[in-house]
Amino acid sequence: MPLGFASARWNNVSSHRRSQWHTFIDQTEVSPLKTVQTIEELRAEIRSARSAGKKIGCVPTMGALHDGHISLVESARQETDFVVVTIFVNPTQFAPHEDLSKYPRPLEDDLRKCADAGVDLVFNPHADTVYPAKDAAYVEVPACSTMLEGAHRPSHFRGVATIVLKLFNMVMPDIAFFGQKDYQQQLLIRHMVDDLNVPVEIRTCPTVRESDGLAMSSRNMYLSDADRQTALALSQALKLAHDACCADGKALVEARQAMLDHLARFPDIKLDYVVIADANTLSEVEHAVPEMVALIAARVGTTRLIDNMLISAAVQT
Ligand code: PAJ
Repeated sequence: MPLGFASARWNNVSSHRRSQWHTFIDQTEVSPLKTVQTIEELRAEIRSARSAGKKIGCVPTMGALHDGHISLVESARQETDFVVVTIFVNPTQFAPHEDLSKYPRPLEDDLRKCADAGVDLVFNPHADTVYPAKDAAYVEVPACSTMLEGAHRPSHFRGVATIVLKLFNMVMPDIAFFGQKDYQQQLLIRHMVDDLNVPVEIRTCPTVRESDGLAMSSRNMYLSDADRQTALALSQALKLAHDACCADGKALVEARQAMLDHLARFPDIKLDYVVIADANTLSEVEHAVPEMVALIAARVGTTRLIDNMLISAAVQT
C-alpha cells in the first residue's frame, strides 16, 4: 500500500491537459501511475504497451470511483497486461435537467484509488478534446435504447454509445470491462460492438454491493442518511423477486407483485419502472424464459437509483 502521496503535485493539477508521472511511494516498491489528457499522449502510451506485446484492457468510468469500479479494474488486471481507466464525465449522456454540473469529480481520490489498484494509465481528457466538433456525428443503437432507461432518459443512450465508441477508438483496447449494475448499458454496448464490428471484447462484471445490499453507485453520496436506509428497499425487492422465482418457483406475475408490494411500503420511493424482462432483449416477460433480469429504477428523495438482479439458472447476484 502506498505510504506517501505527492499531494503537492496535485495542487498544480489544475492544468488538466498536462501529462505527468505520479509516483506513489512504498518502502518496498514504487508503482507509477501515468495520467494523460490528450489523444496523442494516450496513443503513444498504447503503442508502446502494444509493442511490448501487452494486451490492453479498458475500464471506462465517469470517476467518483468506488469498489464497484475497482472490481472492474481487478477483472481487467486478471485478463490483460496494461489497464487503462478512462475518467470522463460525459456531458452528452446527461439531459439538461440532470446532474451534470453537480456530478462528483474527486480526481485526486480517484487517481489514488487507481494507483492502489494497479492501474497502468488513466486517460482523463478535457471535454473539448473528446468533442471538438459538437454533434457532428453520433451513435444510435435502437435495439435496446428506447425501453426502460431509454424511455425515462430519451437521449441518454445515444450519449453513452457515442462516448464508448469514441473511447474504444481512442484506447483501442482488446477487452473492455463494464458492470452489470448498468444492465441496459452493457447490453447496448454489446449490441453496438456486434453490429458495428468493433474489434473489442466486452466483459460484464457482477454488481458490487455494500454489506447491507445497496448497489454501489457514485450517486449514493447524494443520499441523506434516511434516504440511504430507504434505498435498501430496491435490492430487497429484487431479492424477493429472485427468491420467489428461483427458490419458491412462483409465477413471474407473483414475483413482480412481491417487488411492488415491498416497494409500496416506502412512500418516499417514486418508481420509474419495476419489471422482469428477458435478459437478452429486455422485453418484459410474463412467462419464464431461460435468462431473465429483474430491474428497478426509482427516485429516493431527489436521487435516481437503478438496480437489477439476474433470475436464471446461473444467478450472479
Ligand atoms: P460510471 O457510472 O462511472 O460506471 C463505470 C462502470 O462501472 C460501468 O460499467 C458501471 O456499470 C460500473 N459500475 C458502477 N457501479 C458498479 C457496481 N456497484 N458494481 C460493478 N460495476 C459497477 O457507466 C458509466 O460510468 C458511463 O455511462 C460510461 C460507460 C463511463 C460512459 O460515459
